[in-house]
Amino acid sequence: MKHEQRRIQTSSLVIGGGVAGLSAAIKLSRLGPVILISKGSLVEANTYYAQGGIASVLSKDDSFENHIRDTCEAGAGLCRLDAVRTVIEDGPRAIEELISWGVDFDKAHSGESYHLTREGGHSHRRVIHAKDLTGKALMETLIHLVRGNPNITVMENQFAIDLITSDKYCPDFSKNSCFGAYILNRRSNEIFQIQAGRTVLATGGHGRIYLYTTNPELATGDGIAMGWRAGAKIANLEFMQFHPTCLFHPQIKDFLISEAVRGEGGILRNKVGASFMEDYHPQGSLAPRDIVARAIDRELKRSGETHVFLDVRHLGEEKLKRHFPNIFARCLSIGLDISKEMIPVVPAAHYNCGGLVVDLDARSSIRGLYAVGEVACTGLHGANRLASNSLLEAIVFSDRLAKAAAKDGQMELLHNLPDWDSGDAVSSDEQVVLSHTWDEIRRIMWNYVGIVRTDKRLKRAEAKMVALRRELTDYYWNYQLNDKLLEVRNLAEVAYLTIRSAMQRKESRGIHYNIDYNFTSETAKDTILW
Ligand code: FAD
Ligand code: SIN
Repeated sequence: MKHEQRRIQTSSLVIGGGVAGLSAAIKLSRLGPVILISKGSLVEANTYYAQGGIASVLSKDDSFENHIRDTCEAGAGLCRLDAVRTVIEDGPRAIEELISWGVDFDKAHSGESYHLTREGGHSHRRVIHAKDLTGKALMETLIHLVRGNPNITVMENQFAIDLITSDKYCPDFSKNSCFGAYILNRRSNEIFQIQAGRTVLATGGHGRIYLYTTNPELATGDGIAMGWRAGAKIANLEFMQFHPTCLFHPQIKDFLISEAVRGEGGILRNKVGASFMEDYHPQGSLAPRDIVARAIDRELKRSGETHVFLDVRHLGEEKLKRHFPNIFARCLSIGLDISKEMIPVVPAAHYNCGGLVVDLDARSSIRGLYAVGEVACTGLHGANRLASNSLLEAIVFSDRLAKAAAKDGQMELLHNLPDWDSGDAVSSDEQVVLSHTWDEIRRIMWNYVGIVRTDKRLKRAEAKMVALRRELTDYYWNYQLNDKLLEVRNLAEVAYLTIRSAMQRKESRGIHYNIDYNFTSETAKDTILW
């Protein structure tokens, strides 16, 4: 016998508890009760691992125009100028607010101003940071504020399965509208619904679609997959940014060596100790990320080696320990003293510039649904994100979202939303199938949709992914849902959409490089999937 599913109602539902979700919840709590759900515990978010810092114009030598120019140059003709200007000009206010909330950024030697570091593609020092643990410092402050806010209810270990939208579940609306989400409690396996006056997707990125990535396990692109299934407009998924310097180690596969290390003087070298980046770009090791990642890829293909090296020995133990205590300690824990030995590094999938298309106030193409943080495509990053612009984007857009939501009002609360339909699904005893599929997807993406692409590789990837998705759909409809099945399905969906986006782009631009189109076309266009 079927029993009735639990229904919860709230003013705002925020799906995701990284910098975007936490900031949005804080601001939305002024409008009424907020429920914030996260897939794991709150600290399991990409944000927690952010190292380098937050880019903003904070010194007299710098200007908004400089930051705007650097952002647009990195973005290779695809940045939306209004989004760029909005984020950059609101940056100093946003940083001021974080400081007033208690984020403990590093001070300069004088102790009066803040220490600003530098990263690839930035013409000036403008990255404010808390040692090499900026994400942790930011998260601790935001989590403290959220937990102490009586208007915010935090629900951890809750997996958002799908958005509840009118097109799919109650088709009497003229424009597709969102009323909340179906949620799976990962501990009890209960499925219930949260109905909300507004719904915010803040589910982060999807580096995990690749075999090698700097992203933690949660980054499976659930928000993009949910948005896609609900009919939201998605753009530019082909622009997966590969970070040039992920630690190369047989066991530790996702530890980042911050770009700030090169900003402070680290040099990329090959096996024989030669610095090679000067052959590729006048800024050498501090060239924009796409150029560095491609150069390393080329060096590795040419030499047949597995990795290159980042040399920081000349910076000295004292500076390394002071500025990069986390990197120093982590490397030492595997027997690598970076003040004496070079760090083995390889590029790895890091950040996706695409996502749900939103306007300047974080509204998606679906009424009542907002998107913020890495899941959103605001137009700030264009075809390649400038380092340390993403935390800033999430903070600025969360603030704008809440202001817009106050004007937009709430969706009506409906009484006839259907329960989640589990059909005749039975319990599966073949979880092993899922981990094989998971692994296969990540290998396909790494081998065929990596730093350097060709039409032939993309076609192969597409064919393989079509077959995998068919198998997964069969699995999905016949077996009871669990979090692993939901994640693999989302991973496959986002991988497939990435391949389709890459196939649509008949040029090379920013971080999308296809040997068969070794040119940049004159008209810059977003790749829209709808
Ligand atoms: P996240 O912080 O990833 O949070 C996503 C949240 O969504 C999590 O709480 C997760 O549980 C939840 N979630 C996901 N799916 C579901 C679901 N189905 N149901 C319920 N909840 C769900 N950027 C910078 O600007 N500066 C840096 O120095 C920097 N360093 C970085 C270092 C590393 C190692 C990495 C990986 C990224 C770095 N970035 C940096 C990028 C930046 O950290 C991310 O883009 C940003 O933190 C994303 O924030 P977010 O809130 O959108 O997502
Ligand atoms: C880093 O510290 O290198 C990451 C910065 C970023 O991804 O913006």
